[in-house]
Amino acid sequence: MRNLFQKKDVAQLLAQYQKRKHNPSMGAFDLTLMGIGAVIGTGVMVLTGITAAQDAGPAVIFSFILAAVACSLAALCYAEISSALPVYGSAYIYSYTTMGEIVGHLMGWTLLSVYMVTSSAVASGWSSYFNNLLEGFGLSIPKQLLTTPEHGGIMNLPAIMITFVITWILSQGTKESKKFNNAMVIVKILIVALFIIAGSFYVKPENWQPFMPFGAEGVITGAAAVFFAYLGFDAISASAEDVKNPQRNLPIGIIGSLVICTMIYILVCLVMTGMVPYSQLNVPEAMSYVLQVVNQNAVAEIISVGAVIGLMAVIFANTFAATRISFAMSRDGLLPKVFSITGKKSGAPVWNTWITGMLTAFIAGFVDLKNLSDLANMGALLTFLMVSLSVIILRKTEKNLPRGFKVPFVPLLPILSIGFCLFLIANLPMKTWLYFSVWLLAGTAVYFSYSYKHSTLKQ
Ligand code: ALA
Repeated sequence: MRNLFQKKDVAQLLAQYQKRKHNPSMGAFDLTLMGIGAVIGTGVMVLTGITAAQDAGPAVIFSFILAAVACSLAALCYAEISSALPVYGSAYIYSYTTMGEIVGHLMGWTLLSVYMVTSSAVASGWSSYFNNLLEGFGLSIPKQLLTTPEHGGIMNLPAIMITFVITWILSQGTKESKKFNNAMVIVKILIVALFIIAGSFYVKPENWQPFMPFGAEGVITGAAAVFFAYLGFDAISASAEDVKNPQRNLPIGIIGSLVICTMIYILVCLVMTGMVPYSQLNVPEAMSYVLQVVNQNAVAEIISVGAVIGLMAVIFANTFAATRISFAMSRDGLLPKVFSITGKKSGAPVWNTWITGMLTAFIAGFVDLKNLSDLANMGALLTFLMVSLSVIILRKTEKNLPRGFKVPFVPLLPILSIGFCLFLIANLPMKTWLYFSVWLLAGTAVYFSYSYKHSTLKQ
């Protein structure tokens, strides 16, 4: 029997990287923009209000800061390991090289769920802003077609539709889609800035009282929920092979985009909870809602249009990342070949894109946003934990590998990162643990029925 923990060889991996054909084109600025594009989305636009109302009150700002601390520890680990192993595949490859094949496979499987479920969750948030926009024009979608079966509806139809639109764009190839993506990211940054500036004129400090109505416990539950808002900075490491001077630029892109997003989130929290009492924020399209409350209907409408455009960038980035992970796994023989067949004209993995897109659309249509974001958080926390662990292992196994960035105080800092991740995982609902275990069991079944026999490592 072959060793289930057989590792990918680092030297071979780096030799493959040196031989790659295309010219890397991305610099630190492109990467930071890409990170912001993948990060700012449903988390801040939808979950801030809901979490303030249900869990943390105005102290939701502390929830965001706590989640940022957990992410920044993980981001430092990502910065080191991606600068040492600048290849496609992100945490999948890091675990494959440090902990062996079955761990790598399950990590890839986890990443697939994170990216697909994140896309679905963002599509679901998109649907709320889209409906709000239509209502502004006096149109409306029947409630049954906006609501998942769990909440008494039939399905979330707009969420399904937008996922198909993005899938179609992605299936046309990277070059075309990149231009489209950049435009969406810029719109998104502009409307968040507009919200902060326009909203700041209506902040009443008395709305921040009581500041922590649900106590420290509420802040911690809130942190586990809004952690979702930070997901995406890791997508930068997945594009490592397209980066110029990755040893320098990957760490700048990863840490830079996280710092910028954290500052933006803190400002959004302050303005949103300062504009209306926190108990009124229990609406999905809170950014437009609070502006409507202060009679700024025109600005609210602009925010809705911007959110509808901007959120598409997040669906785009995550669906793209999912296809690249299944592509890498298929190239290594762990998933069927159909996932790495590329279209002649577009160069995009067309089958892979459509399979991923259809699955994502189905999940977006039938599972509600809170369940989805919790599930994405679970997968992401596990991923961050494994990346932190990989840093410790790689320091031992590959002492002399050049690293553009080094995490200080190893192993203390990665251990702290692992501790934070475990703490937040423990604060996720039982239901999430259950769903996620089922997904991992399915991954294990795929490994033993297919991947084990077809792995290229075996040959
Ligand atoms: N961080 C991303 C968002 O908030 C996933 O939508």
